[in-house]
Amino acid sequence: ARAPVAIVGAGPAGLMLAHLLGRAGVGTVVLDTRTRHEIETTHRAGILEADAARALVETGVSERILLDGHEHEGVELRFGGRPYRIDFKELVGASVWLYPQTDVFTDLADARERDGGTVHFGVRDTEVLDITTDAPRVRWTAPDGTRHELRARYAVGADGSRGGCRDLVPEDRRTRYGKDYPFAWFGIMAEAPTSAPELVYAHSEHGFALISQRTASVQRMYFQCAPDESADAWSDDRIWETLQARVAGEDGFRLKEGPILERTVLRFRSFVQEPMRWGSMALAGDAAHTVPPTGARGLNLALHDVEVLAEVLLRALGGEGPAALDDYQPRALRRVWRAQNFSYWMTRLLHTAPGATPFDLRRQLGELDNAVGTRAGRTFLAEQYTGWPAAARD
Ligand code: DHB
Repeated sequence: ARAPVAIVGAGPAGLMLAHLLGRAGVGTVVLDTRTRHEIETTHRAGILEADAARALVETGVSERILLDGHEHEGVELRFGGRPYRIDFKELVGASVWLYPQTDVFTDLADARERDGGTVHFGVRDTEVLDITTDAPRVRWTAPDGTRHELRARYAVGADGSRGGCRDLVPEDRRTRYGKDYPFAWFGIMAEAPTSAPELVYAHSEHGFALISQRTASVQRMYFQCAPDESADAWSDDRIWETLQARVAGEDGFRLKEGPILERTVLRFRSFVQEPMRWGSMALAGDAAHTVPPTGARGLNLALHDVEVLAEVLLRALGGEGPAALDDYQPRALRRVWRAQNFSYWMTRLLHTAPGATPFDLRRQLGELDNAVGTRAGRTFLAEQYTGWPAAARD
């Protein structure tokens, strides 16, 4: 079989790229080792930049964001037991949308089906070959055991942080930048009413907590834990006690509790591989870079990658040839490192490192005070969180 672009990975990056190319009349084949059900039931972050939400609506992927999503015009930071609001609308005229990544995926998968796009879920033994030629090939085994091969003009690795595509860039020609953190997140889904109108990012001497939302009756919350923590070792009572202690304050704020529906320990790191393109293959989304979850940059970054990548691939296929791909990395990577900095900064700002001294803690409170106590500090946070002002974009 043949298609101009073969895409490995049917997460939001791979499917959005297929969607954008499909709208311009370019055929794609998308492969994923996971089943659609597996992807749909793996919880991810829930915040979309307004521009990303707009792109999903305007390109015909998701009307549902406007119905089921919630526009948030700010967030709350809590520290020293007090709340501080960062008013995105007033500071930078921007907002974000609370709309879970699993819903973004469902909308994209439905749009592919509706538009007759080819997506193979649940494949095995995916191989990407000949990426240094102008005819890369992709091979895979279908769920029924049959072996398939596709010849393409370009290949895209959108196979996530554990995918194999980035290993195809020769070892002596690639550089990997990374950072590990001495903590992880304990994430829960709870059946309870909303505790606060907006997201709450809380710093406390016991560690970080994040109060997010899903629906009127299901809430998403996280708290900092040890990287080797086992989710099963925690009773519901202990989870609620931990969360309550981290958001407690002189205003008497308390979370509304309820049955815990799901629990997972999420480990994370900062990672970038350069280059993001090798020969006829480009990497997009988590396949090229991952960020710690604080600030919810990951999905937004992936969507930005494929917006740029779709544009250069259309130019390449439209007659400009492979030279058009030279524009991909510089334009995508600028945003990647800005997001790396913001995610790292916000993680360090809010988490308590094991072994932190009283000096470390007080310095951190000073940094938090700078972040909320001056208009410049609040504006910095608001600009980064909502996806940077237009003048600072690629
Ligand atoms: C969510 C996750 C995040 O990492 C974040 O910064 C904000 C919200 C979420 O799952 O809702």
